[in-house]
Amino acid sequence: MRICFYSVKLFEHGPFDRANESRRHTLDRHSERLSVKTAPLAEGCDAVCVFVGDDVSASVIDALADLGVRLILLRSAGFNHVDVVAAERRGLTTLRVPAYSPHAIAEHTVGLMLALNRKIHRAYNRVREQNFALDGLLGFDMHGKTVGVVGTGRIGEVVCAILAGFGCRVLASDPVVNDVCVSLGAEYVGRERLFAESDIITLHCPLTPETKHMIDAGALDLMKPGVMIINTSRGAVVDSRAVIAGLKSEKIGALGLDVYEEEADLFFRDLSDTVIQDDVFMRLLTFPNVIVTAHQAFFTREALRGIADTTLENASAFESGSPIADNVVSSSLIAG
Ligand code: NAI
Repeated sequence: MRICFYSVKLFEHGPFDRANESRRHTLDRHSERLSVKTAPLAEGCDAVCVFVGDDVSASVIDALADLGVRLILLRSAGFNHVDVVAAERRGLTTLRVPAYSPHAIAEHTVGLMLALNRKIHRAYNRVREQNFALDGLLGFDMHGKTVGVVGTGRIGEVVCAILAGFGCRVLASDPVVNDVCVSLGAEYVGRERLFAESDIITLHCPLTPETKHMIDAGALDLMKPGVMIINTSRGAVVDSRAVIAGLKSEKIGALGLDVYEEEADLFFRDLSDTVIQDDVFMRLLTFPNVIVTAHQAFFTREALRGIADTTLENASAFESGSPIADNVVSSSLIAG
């Protein structure tokens, strides 16, 4: 099948070429983001293949459907950037990569926790300037601390396993209990109790109308002073303005973000010669106890290989008339 790829980065070429050796799809690769303006690039293609910063809203879907596109392939697990109802209405199938190395994201999450706790980002700069003083670098033992894991699906489960290895007490919040997490010692509690008792809170739920701005001023009020918050899920689960207020009042002791609500206009490109206009984002970067990474939690060799393999397998299965059921994104998934 002929697939129009949007938002393609150089690092994706190798994994997709290798994954396509046995499948022989035609890959039309574009660095442009999908939008109403760039939709015509998909003329003559059966499918589009998009990443998290692409615009897959109703108007774009209409444009793609008018061109004869029948399939939307997501190079991601998250699908909050797709108007699934509009896709269904126009008869387009949406297929995602639900699981590609949850270890990649879980390990990055714990990396952010350790870096923030032991101030490794600050220590790195100090030592390079021959400042070997320790003042200001004091951390705490992870052992014995309470960590709240919001969302215990594939990624949250691996986070629970790593934290259990550290000897943390793990509180979990998820409408669905994961027995593996329970066997690792996690205790399922209501979200309010998790907020109130956790020294560290880490977010691994999808972005839905229910989880949008889950971390807002009201949630922060419930938390311990000096709480560490980590978000590697989706940016809008956190209300950025509320966490800035929480950092200024020192309610939040440390913040690690791999995702940001307005990241589509920032991440995945080099803006080092640009004056960034997003004042909320720039304020976040000024705090010494904030680390922002630009949506790189997924970025391991194993994960890239998994994304490429599953994406092209999704295309092949769709072509043969039997899309892999677990990978289909439908409106029932949002409702459920
Ligand atoms: P998953 O679908 O396996 O697990 C998500 C879990 O969240 C499920 O157990 C679900 O029941 C739970 N959940 C749903 N609503 C909830 C709520 N209101 N409160 C608490 N839990 C709730 O998903 P997976 O693969 O573990 O991904 C988790 C998140 O990580 C997603 O938001 C995804 O978009 C994000 N992600 C981020 C990446 C990155 O590079 N930063 C890469 C891959 C995924």
